[in-house]
Amino acid sequence: QKTVDELVRAEEGLVSRSIFVDEEIFQQELKQIFSRAWLFVGHESLVPKPDDYFVSRMGTESVILTRDRQGQIQVMLNSCAHRGMKLCRYDHGNNRTFTCPYHGWSFSTDGKLVERPGELVGVPGHATHYKGELDKKQWGLKTVAQVVNYKGAIWATWDPNAPPFLDYIGNMRLYLDAALDHRNGSPGGSEVIGGVQKWRVKCNWKFAPENFIGDLYHDISHRSVDIVGIGPGGGKGRRDASATRSAICFPELGHGLLGRLPFYEEGPYAPQYGRYPEVEAYYREIHEQRERTLGSAMRVQTSVGTIFPNMSFHGRQPRTLAVFHPISSTEMEMWRMYLVDKDAPEAVKDAARHYFLRYSGPGGMTESDDMENWTGATEASMGAMSRELFFNYQMGVGHREDVPEIPGCAVNGEYTEENARIYYRRWAQFMNGLSWDQLMAGAVRLEEAA
Ligand code: FES
Repeated sequence: QKTVDELVRAEEGLVSRSIFVDEEIFQQELKQIFSRAWLFVGHESLVPKPDDYFVSRMGTESVILTRDRQGQIQVMLNSCAHRGMKLCRYDHGNNRTFTCPYHGWSFSTDGKLVERPGELVGVPGHATHYKGELDKKQWGLKTVAQVVNYKGAIWATWDPNAPPFLDYIGNMRLYLDAALDHRNGSPGGSEVIGGVQKWRVKCNWKFAPENFIGDLYHDISHRSVDIVGIGPGGGKGRRDASATRSAICFPELGHGLLGRLPFYEEGPYAPQYGRYPEVEAYYREIHEQRERTLGSAMRVQTSVGTIFPNMSFHGRQPRTLAVFHPISSTEMEMWRMYLVDKDAPEAVKDAARHYFLRYSGPGGMTESDDMENWTGATEASMGAMSRELFFNYQMGVGHREDVPEIPGCAVNGEYTEENARIYYRRWAQFMNGLSWDQLMAGAVRLEEAA
């Protein structure tokens, strides 16, 4: 059995294919990465009212994301404390208590009834069958150790010792903000439009965040899309092609993106919604608003990025959040959420919805290209011989430069595999079971970045 450091030689740009197909390594990932890291579990707009719930995932675990009667977001294991049955079998709904269909135990998050969320409140036959001896306080639902609502996006970790979420993402926050809060203090906030698209792909889960962390090189895959033309305005091209992008990364944290370096000049508004004048007017106004409100503040722009381990986002219009849930070493479940301004006119939401559908998701033209690449690469790495080989991530080795304006941030041109290298370096650190002190030793704290 090879060690983690033999499997991932990130500095050399070599990553063993076995980490994409081996079931034992997959089980280790669930323990070392998904039981510890901060994971994206949903968006607050999925549970707008008290008692609303949305069934999400953390690694292979099913979890309930709910808003309690006091308005707080709670995340709990979707598994009954008695004999493990799933409590919620619908994808979403509204429940005052969660009652198990197997033997009828019920659990509550209402702070008026219980001392801690997920407490066991109802046991059929408690007085008779259990003779009143079962200690209900001991048999609540397992809840996450920490949960955070960051600009509407909900994140959670099972690890009580994990650092605060904002330390975990470090100055990547600046780029994540472009997706979550593109108006820089959006008055109405954002909402997920049209529900959550979910589908399974026969590939290892890491292919997707690796792709979204900065693989501009694979654009050749989408050549047919460029030719057909599915741009936001219904014309040629996929998105604003005039944007020069750099591969920006946070080497000590494992996050990265394609985007603009800080303090770039946004320049005049570039029209792209030709066929939809109302949509054009809306985004022109947003652009001008940003100019006014940001002033000389730090400007950044994200095209697409990844927060380690399995969340990615598009930061420009269209704004999307994606998460790649591990199912097995050779299968993942991909989720897409599409963000729009809550207070945007219907015409803007409608144009966005159409663009999302032709661009992303299981039927979207670009996603279909990507899925074919990822499933093909997984399948062709499963053999006894092929899994012994290494993937090549050597583009741009040795050309990383620090970005002085953003502590902890580095850049490596436009076409490079640097971002994938720092992602797998982080993967190896988690898989080696490093302590949080060791994992965060090189991280730049927010205070220092101020
Ligand atoms: Fe839930 Fe028995 S498994 S009440």
